Amino acid sequence: MKIRVVTMFPEYFEGPLDVSIVGRAIEDGILEVELIDLREHGLGKHKQLDDTPFGGGPGMVMRIEPLAGVLEPLENTHRVLFTPSGHPMKQETLDRWAALEEITFVCGRYEGVDQRVIDHFIDEETSLGDYVLAGGEVAAAAAIEGIARLLPGVVGNPDSTVFESFRDGLLEEPVYTRPAEFRGWKVPEILLSGDHARIEAWRKEQRLQRTRERRPDLLDGLPSDN
Ligand code: ADE
Repeated sequence: MKIRVVTMFPEYFEGPLDVSIVGRAIEDGILEVELIDLREHGLGKHKQLDDTPFGGGPGMVMRIEPLAGVLEPLENTHRVLFTPSGHPMKQETLDRWAALEEITFVCGRYEGVDQRVIDHFIDEETSLGDYVLAGGEVAAAAAIEGIARLLPGVVGNPDSTVFESFRDGLLEEPVYTRPAEFRGWKVPEILLSGDHARIEAWRKEQRLQRTRERRPDLLDGLPSDN
């Protein structure tokens, strides 16, 4: 899969692309990431990318010309703009993107992007969450990592992306490993029992309890056998 990232800060991605799952996916040739430096498409000798908003008001707006210059030749790719005004990024968003052969992420900056960029050169606006960051780079890095681990051949254990939070619409149960006791803090007895049916029932109940407590909104959309 190929991911293009259009950003004013390509250097931001040096760390996230080098390590762990993403680093390995790139090294193994399963994932290709191309960073496009928006600054190189800036206007005039100052390589200007932004301007004051028509109608007045605070902040700066990203101009259309540099983004049009980059995005127009890329018409056959799926183009995502990261912005706090977008649809929330969910596991199903990443599942959908990971099935594409290529995708282009545009990292917004400043107070916004000229709406004509969105109208003519963007297919989808996506938000990392209900908070405002300085730009879309963190969201793009999160999406790249979320996609990389879904690509065939990337995660060692093929089951590990199936049995995880959000796959069955629930949060994950608590997990434990050795030692069975530390400073008197014991691992739940049932996990040491060897009774796999009871362990599975316990895990399901823990997932439900956690989800009820922390994310009751997730339970609304679930089938009633949960
Ligand atoms: N840019 C600024 N805030 C953002 C957010 N929450 N999600 C995606 N892009 C952003």
